[in-house]
Amino acid sequence: MERIDTDVVIVGAGAAGLTAATKLVNAGRSVVVLEARDRVGGRLWTDTIEGAMLEIGGQWVSPDQDALIETLDELGLETYSRYREGENVYIDKDGVRRLFEGEIFPVPAKTEGEIVGLIEKLDALVAQIDPDEPWAHPKAKELDEISFAHWLETQTDDDEARLNIGMFIAGAMLTKPDHAFSALQALLMAASAGSFSNLVDADFILDKRVVGGLQQVPLGLAERLGERIRLGQPVRTIRWAQSVGGQGDAVGHGVVAVTDSLEVHADRVILAVPPILISRISYEPPLPRRQHQLHQHLSMGFVIKVHAVYETPFWRDSGLSGTAFSPYELCHEAYDNTNHDDPRGTLVGFVSDEEADGVFSLSAEERKARILESISHYYGEQALTPVVYYESDWGSEEWTRGAYAASFDMGGLARYGADLRTPVGPIHFACSDMAGKGYQHVDGAIRMGRLVADAILEGR
Ligand code: FDA
Repeated sequence: MERIDTDVVIVGAGAAGLTAATKLVNAGRSVVVLEARDRVGGRLWTDTIEGAMLEIGGQWVSPDQDALIETLDELGLETYSRYREGENVYIDKDGVRRLFEGEIFPVPAKTEGEIVGLIEKLDALVAQIDPDEPWAHPKAKELDEISFAHWLETQTDDDEARLNIGMFIAGAMLTKPDHAFSALQALLMAASAGSFSNLVDADFILDKRVVGGLQQVPLGLAERLGERIRLGQPVRTIRWAQSVGGQGDAVGHGVVAVTDSLEVHADRVILAVPPILISRISYEPPLPRRQHQLHQHLSMGFVIKVHAVYETPFWRDSGLSGTAFSPYELCHEAYDNTNHDDPRGTLVGFVSDEEADGVFSLSAEERKARILESISHYYGEQALTPVVYYESDWGSEEWTRGAYAASFDMGGLARYGADLRTPVGPIHFACSDMAGKGYQHVDGAIRMGRLVADAILEGR
């Protein structure tokens, strides 16, 4: 076993861990970052598949994400806008393909009225929610006891309106069916983006991409941190003592993080991993009861991000923006995802939660055929024959186990939310899945990395 002594050991080289490390190093602290994978970035990963550059994980930047935008500026990274000129496609319950502009889908007038009314109601409720403390809302418990699906049923009997509003939070964000999470969890998701209207507005929420891919953020941070990062080092055990600041007993410091070949002794540890992976590590002594309990009430959503690359962005020739939605389609949303300065055209589509379970029970060939068939309903037959086809399957990734992120089960947010980020002795927690603003996004990961570094620097 190699032994290293440092001020702070950080578990996880995603955006949260690397931001915390950068802040601590800039303040003169020594850090070691232990990363399980053989690369940095976690859920940010740009790869070349059969000659096509694909963003396998997170990619979009929205204008409210100031922490991310500041980091992009610090690293000198350039952004470009998602292609959005032309008409969008909506497929209705009868399978009829309709073209539209703006945010409201081309649905019957009554349904449109219901959708607009629901958006207004949700915006008003979201305005009362502090994303950093959704459990502090006077009706938090009540809102956490009712599923989002049920809450929608109490508001309207219009199926199409409910399905569309549900889709923006369920399939498109938490990537769980809307009966599987509470109304409070849905309000947190919207509050973290500023309003429900922002979530509905694809031009806002999916505004920009980074030239070369969003993984440039962790790669840029990692370059500056250099040898402080140790790859291929899954942390198996954390030994810790209640007291911090070198006062620990058996371990001589506050914590020891143990991998298969390293023992890192430090005053503090930051667990910058998805919260569902916290209990995969052994703790000596065990974590307190509340931590054991709360992690059992969190689970990852699940979505397949589908990439289809074509010789040209052919849909643009027919005046289509590439933006497409349908709560009735296997692929419930799709966009033009053509890379900056790339003559080829790329479409990205998403197959979420139970639909994703369904297609994963098929062979790879059948799954591809079913997904492309759904995409072709939006863009026509040319969509059936991409030159490159790839499915991002984060559910199979041992060090992530789902996508996009973790959320609480029914009742869990009001009951345990406040404990999620509370440090335990020398053990601190940071991850996008614990953020208020920027929750489940890279912006939230950066915010959490900054917050936890500040707490350590202030001796909290
Ligand atoms: P993250 O999970 O990235 O990092 C944790 C790190 O810890 C990983 O590197 C992991 O390997 C490591 N680790 C885990 N256990 C360990 C152990 N025991 N020992 C050592 N290391 C360990 N966001 C956005 O802003 N815009 C977007 O468009 C999208 N889209 C999107 C699509 C897809 C398909 C996904 C999967 C995700 C997104 N996201 C997104 C979400 C975004 O990618 C995500 O919120 C952040 O990248 C999370 O960063 P963190 O650092 O918090 O965790």
